[in-house]
Amino acid sequence: MNASPHSDPLVPASSDDHEAVFDDLRRRCPVAHSEQLGLLVLRHDDVSRVLRDHETFSNEVSTRLTVPNGMDPPVHTEYRRVNDRYFTPDLMAAFEPTCRRIATELVDALPSGVAADVMDHLAHDFALRVQSAFLGWPAGLEEPLRAWTRKNHEATRARDHAAMAAVAVEFDGFIRELLTQRRDAGKAAPDDLTTRLLRERVWDREMTDDELVSLLRNWTVGELSTIAASVGILAHYLATHPAVQELLRHDPTLIGAANDEILRIHAPLIANRRVASKPVELGGRTLDAGDRLAVVWASANRDESVFGDPDEFRLDRDPALNLLYGAGIHVCPGAPLARLELRVLVEVLLASTDTLTASADAEPVRAQYPGSGFDSVSLVIT
Ligand code: HEM
Repeated sequence: MNASPHSDPLVPASSDDHEAVFDDLRRRCPVAHSEQLGLLVLRHDDVSRVLRDHETFSNEVSTRLTVPNGMDPPVHTEYRRVNDRYFTPDLMAAFEPTCRRIATELVDALPSGVAADVMDHLAHDFALRVQSAFLGWPAGLEEPLRAWTRKNHEATRARDHAAMAAVAVEFDGFIRELLTQRRDAGKAAPDDLTTRLLRERVWDREMTDDELVSLLRNWTVGELSTIAASVGILAHYLATHPAVQELLRHDPTLIGAANDEILRIHAPLIANRRVASKPVELGGRTLDAGDRLAVVWASANRDESVFGDPDEFRLDRDPALNLLYGAGIHVCPGAPLARLELRVLVEVLLASTDTLTASADAEPVRAQYPGSGFDSVSLVIT
């Protein structure tokens, strides 16, 4: 969500507990008007309705080319067809050993018996290395991407539009250069997902570099921060909920379902945007064509009318109700990859350690909206 987070009482400040802010707002005002963000859609049934009715609630929220997030059908359908070829069960199975190797290397390198910040020592590196490996990007691109992710985070946080534009151009530059190298290499180009993307066609023509860069940006930029946030949330949750940690140590087959439930309780992604394409009534409010709204995952997934006590960890909930990866035509195509990465990471973390506890010396620092999760979370791992 790209609107300014400052000075709006409906938008959580850095020191706030995001879940508590949205819980309170949802109970008082389920479709709340925010000066800066438009209408915040907070209830599970209203969010579900928006997601299903893509004709009324459009994703064309910006004039900038955004493949496929910022598109509506039939254009969205064409690009989404290409997008979805990269997250099949076969590709996921083939990638799992690489993902496990990266998770094992990082977990083995964690300091033992002393407090260590999981964001610094594990979460960001895991997100970056796994995503680079998945796309077949050279190790040499990791450092520029790491620096770039930091700059992007700082610019977004500061709502510095000039800096945000500059870092976007910088990212596009890395990717264009990579695409050019792959094209120049011809048959000698590595046989990986990035090279394969170059051969994709839409509307019976090759995809342009602008389209490829946009698609790759959406597979990288948001995902690095969402995956890193998820790692921090999961590690913190297990450290502060010893009974759940014990359950998963005892039965690792529960890790996948447990991850989805923990990330329902504490969302790694706060919200996504929509714009009304015609007048419509939603949650007792009347929207005109052009009115902006935001579906707030961090609220809908905690709606007590669907989940009862939102903080209660339960593995017997209906998975279809969990909106962690969205729903409808824009449902997250990367969910199989995200689930694989997070399952493997937690499996490795629990299998390679005896205990995971919160550090008594350092309180976790919550990320500032629009980020979620933690900026730092200090744990002691033995
Ligand atoms: C824990 C990690 C992740 C979470 C929580 C997450 C969540 C979401 C959600 C809620 C949406 C729907 C947005 C909307 O309706 O406007 C979405 C869309 C999307 N996600 Fe993810 N995502 C994650 C990881 C990934 C990964 C790893 C990738 C790709 C490598 C990815 C690629 C995308 C793309 C391209 C879209 C847009 C789809 C469309 O508009 O059709 N996501 N994601």
